[in-house]
Order: sequence, then C-alpha cells, then structure tokens
Amino acid sequence: MSDDDLICICMTVSRGEIKQAIQAGNQSIDALKATLFCCTGCGTCESRVQAILDECVKDAAPLPQKTGT
Ligand code: FES
Repeated sequence: MSDDDLICICMTVSRGEIKQAIQAGNQSIDALKATLFCCTGCGTCESRVQAILDECVKDAAPLPQKTGT
C-alpha cells in the first residue's frame, strides 16, 4: 500500500495525509476527523484509519503520561 492510496473515499484523504496528520500530533480518530474530516462521511474507512493510527503510534516514542492531579 502506498502513501498515495485513498483511505477515505468520501473526503479524498490519502494514507500519506493521515500519516502526516498523526505525526503532527493528531493521535486519535477524533483528532483525525477534526483535522482531515476523514471518517465523517459514510464512516466505512474508520477501521482503515484506525489501522494506520495503530501502526504509526506503535512506531512512535511513547507520549508522556499525565501524572497526579
Ligand atoms: S470513506 Fe471515509 S467517510 Fe466514507
């Protein structure tokens, strides 16, 4: 699968655009929806977007954990 592949057909969002948005800090489906509007049409792409998210977040350094109050 290449970065040019369309993941969200409804909003014409490619795999590469999703990866860039994740790297820019949008590390949840809701953040990606707000940024790229992917998954906001028919919704059938959500599992594909989630798979890219899982793949990218797994490869990234862990985010700092919130501690205390
Ligand atoms: S393919 Fe993404 S919302 Fe329809």
